[in-house]
Amino acid sequence: MSDHNKVKITKMDYSKDRAKAKNPLKIMDLSLRDGHQSLFATKGRTEDMIPVAEMMDEVGFWAVETWGGATFDTMHRFLNEDPWERIRTLKKYFKKTPFTMLLRAQNLVGYRNYADDVARAFVDRAAANGIDVFRTFDALNDFRNFETVVPVIKECGKHFQGCICYSMTEPRMGGDVYNLDYYINKAKELEKIGADSVCIKDMAGLIAPYDAYAIVKALKAAVSVPVHLHSHFTSGMADMALLKAIEAGVDIIDTCLSPYAYRTSHPAVEPFVMALLGTNRDTGFDIKLLGAISEILERDVLPKYKHLLNDKKMSIIDINVLLHQTSGGMLSNLVNQLREMDALDRINEVYAELPKVRKDLGQVPLVTPASQIIGVQTVNNVVFDDENEQYRMITDQVKDLCYGLYGKTTVPIKPEVMEKVLKGYSRGEKPITCRPAEVLEPELEKAKEDVKGLAVDMDDVLIYALYPVTGKRFLKWKYGKEEPPLEVKPKTLEDVKTEQDLIEKALAGELVKKSEKKAPPKGENLRTFNVFVDDEYFEIGVEEPGGSPVVSYVQQMPASASVPVIPSAAPAPPRPAAASVSPPIKKSAPAVRKKSDTDGTPLTAPMPGMIISYEKKIGDSVKKGEPVVILEAMKMENALPSPAAGTIKAINFSAGDSVAKGDVLCVIE
Ligand code: CO
Repeated sequence: MSDHNKVKITKMDYSKDRAKAKNPLKIMDLSLRDGHQSLFATKGRTEDMIPVAEMMDEVGFWAVETWGGATFDTMHRFLNEDPWERIRTLKKYFKKTPFTMLLRAQNLVGYRNYADDVARAFVDRAAANGIDVFRTFDALNDFRNFETVVPVIKECGKHFQGCICYSMTEPRMGGDVYNLDYYINKAKELEKIGADSVCIKDMAGLIAPYDAYAIVKALKAAVSVPVHLHSHFTSGMADMALLKAIEAGVDIIDTCLSPYAYRTSHPAVEPFVMALLGTNRDTGFDIKLLGAISEILERDVLPKYKHLLNDKKMSIIDINVLLHQTSGGMLSNLVNQLREMDALDRINEVYAELPKVRKDLGQVPLVTPASQIIGVQTVNNVVFDDENEQYRMITDQVKDLCYGLYGKTTVPIKPEVMEKVLKGYSRGEKPITCRPAEVLEPELEKAKEDVKGLAVDMDDVLIYALYPVTGKRFLKWKYGKEEPPLEVKPKTLEDVKTEQDLIEKALAGELVKKSEKKAPPKGENLRTFNVFVDDEYFEIGVEEPGGSPVVSYVQQMPASASVPVIPSAAPAPPRPAAASVSPPIKKSAPAVRKKSDTDGTPLTAPMPGMIISYEKKIGDSVKKGEPVVILEAMKMENALPSPAAGTIKAINFSAGDSVAKGDVLCVIE
C-alpha cells in the first residue's frame, strides 16, 4: 500500500471510539449462513445464534447474512425448524444491522427454476419477514433469470445485490471465456438492470490475489455502484485476495467470526480489523467485542457442531482447488458417487474427464446446481462409457440443461452432444432460447390446493411449493399432525458430554457387545447414537429418565453395514474413520430383493439409488435402449435403458423404493 493511503495515527487505539477512517472498509458477516453451511452442512440452529445476536448487532457490520442458500432446505428437512421463523426471531435481536439472504434467482432456495408466480410470492414474503439485502445469483450468470425476482425486490424497497459467479477455464483468470472483459460486461449488465451493488461470488475459493486486484480495479472503473467480494478460504488464497481487493478499492468484503472461519468457509474478520487499524480503510470495529463473541461461541455453541467438522486431515486448505478447480463440496460429491459405484479408484479419470464434459456442456460455472450436473455426468461417463459410445448414461438434469431450462450456457453446447442428449426428450428435441421460466406453468394455485387444511398462511404454502415431499412432512410436524422423529431434535451440551464419555469407553474397550440376554424395554425418552470405532460401529441407546443420561443399550452393528445416504443440500461430511459419533441415521426399510423367477434379460441397477418411476408396465413391449426405469442417484435422475428388445416380464420394485447396486429392477423377455 502506498504511503498516502495511510492515515496518520496519533495514538494506537483499539476502542470503537477511535478516529473514524476516511473510507472505512465495509464488512458483511456470513457466520450465520455461509459459515455454518460451509463447515457444518448448514446444521446451525436458530437457538445457537441467539446468544451472540445482540453483540453481533453492535459490531457495525454492513449486513449479516442470515438466510438463503441451503438454510431453507436443511431447516425444514433436518432441523424441524420453520425457515421463516428464523428471520423473525433473529430480527428481534438484530435491531440495526440489515439482513442479507442468498437468493438463487429463479431457483429461489431450491435446485430448479420455479414458476414466476412462486418466485414473486417468495421474494415478497422474504422481504416481509425481514430480509433487507437480496444477494442474487444465477448459476449460469444468465441474468434473464433475474427478470422476475428483481422487480419484486425493488417494489419491496429492498437492496438488490447482483452477483457474478466467478469461474475459470485456465489455472488463472484469462483465456477466451472467463477473462476480465467477461466480468466487466457482466457487471455493467447488472448495473443496467438496477443492481444496488455488484458482487463477485467466488464460491470455490478460486480467485487469485492479483486477479482479485485486477477485477476490483476494473469494476470500480466500470460501474458506479459499490463492489463486493465474496471468496471462500478453501484454497488458502482468500485472505490474500481480499487484501489485494482492499488495495484495489473494494467497498465491501465477506468474512466470518473466527470460530466459523477458514477451511471451506471464509477468512476471519478479526485479522482484517487489526490489519487495517489506523489506515484509511479502518473498519472501526471493536476487536474486544469480537473476541467476546468468539469466546461465547467457542464455549457454548461450537461443541455441539464439532462432530460435523471434517477434520480428518491436518491441512485446513484443499489443494484440489488449486489443482483441479473443484470445490471441496463438489469433490466430496464426486468421491461419494464413485464410492457408491465401487469405482473410487477412478478418481483421476474423473479429474481428466471433467474439463471435457464441462466444455461439451457449455463451459458453465461450477456452482450449484451446475457443478452437480457436470460432476455426476462426468462420473457416469467415466463409469459407463466405452470406446464405441460416449454419454451412454445421461441424467435428466443434463437433458434439461441442454434444452435450456437452466438458461443460456456460457459457450454453446457441442452440437453432437446436444443432439444425442435431446433425442426423445419429453419437452422436445429442439432447445428453447427464451427465458427458462417462460415455459413453466404457474404453480402456486395448485400448491395452495394441495395443502388446503394443512397450510395456515402463504409462508406454509411456499414451504410446500418449494419442497413438496419434505415440506409437507415438515408442515405435519409443525401442526402436530405427525410426530417428528428424534433425529431432528437439537443436540445439547449434555449430549456432547455423554458422547465423549462413550467414545472414551469405546476406545478403552469398555463397551460390551450385546449379550444374548433380552434387552430391557426401551423407554420413550430413548435416543440412539451411532458410535464409529474404525470400521466397526455401535448403536447406543441413551435414556434420560430425569436425571443424568444413562446408557441403556449398546448394540454392535455389522462391520460392513452400509449407511443409507440421506440426501442433503450441502455435501455431508465423510464418515469419520476414527472413533466419533454421528447423529442417528434413519434407516430406510430394506427393500425386498426379489429374485427373478423368469428367464430373460435382467435390468440391474448400475448404482444405488431410489426408484422414481417405471416407464413401462408388465406386458409392455420395449425396444433395446428405450428408457424403462428412472433411478435417482446423487439427486440426479437417470433414465435406465432396456438392455434388450422384448416384453417386460417382471417388475421388482415400485416408486420410492431404495435399491442397491446390482438389484434386478425388471426383467425383459
Ligand atoms: Co459462499
